[in-house]
Amino acid sequence: MTTDRPTYDFERAHQYIEGLLPDYIRRLQQEGLLPEDVPAQPSIGPTVAQLVDVLILATKPRNVLEIGTSAGYSAIAMGKALRQVGGKLTTVEIDPRLAHAARNNIKEAGLSDIIDVIVNDANLVLEGVPPHFGLILQDGTKDDYLRMLPRLIELLEMNGLLITDDVLFPVMSLPGKAKRYQYALQLYNEALQGRPDMQTVWLPIGDGVAISVKTPTNRFKGEAPHDWPCDL
Ligand SMILES: C[S@@+](CC[C@H](N)C(=O)[O-])C[C@H]1O[C@@H](n2cnc3c(N)ncnc32)[C@H](O)[C@@H]1O
Repeated sequence: MTTDRPTYDFERAHQYIEGLLPDYIRRLQQEGLLPEDVPAQPSIGPTVAQLVDVLILATKPRNVLEIGTSAGYSAIAMGKALRQVGGKLTTVEIDPRLAHAARNNIKEAGLSDIIDVIVNDANLVLEGVPPHFGLILQDGTKDDYLRMLPRLIELLEMNGLLITDDVLFPVMSLPGKAKRYQYALQLYNEALQGRPDMQTVWLPIGDGVAISVKTPTNRFKGEAPHDWPCDL
């Protein structure tokens, strides 16, 4: 099929965007936050860090929640933005070695008063929490995304943002074991799109990121095209 639409190479675009980012976002990544004896966990990377940073500065959430701290890369990026707007971050990490490394890195970044690292399974921690988050970053295990979605939406304030990392796994070539995440993310993306109380945009930066806003009305009402799987 021919098209008149101008095209560009995604990888080049990615490198170009990264080259435009502020030094501290890139340095944070390069300095290596992980201790040598702990298995590496991929971070959100500089472009998504910058996106979350911009969203925090724009929406000024008082309380932010992160699922999946790892060694604190995304937490530190968010903490720097939260310092400017007077907000706090609660971040949950299941692996005590990573949580320990994150606490050290957060302390070194001078953000211990902004960021609280909870060492536990996020599925358990979120049980009794009241809905008071203006922004939630979902970057935990991909197998949990779908199951956790309704609870995370409950925990958002109205007009709050849910940011989900790795949503373009279904169209990426992932190595052997990681392939199962493609299916998990496919189901997750469809569930997100099917939520009448969430409006979502998917962006091809990093490994794909979805930004969803919790809406006060049913966004399908009176607008759904006939072939949508929805009869509201
Ligand atoms: C992709 S890494 C997070 C990267 C981090 N957000 C960053 O950008 O630096 C995913 C993390 O989620 C953690 N995790 C997995 N399952 C979890 C659970 N049920 N509760 C809390 N953390 C979990 C993993 O141990 C891992 O550190």
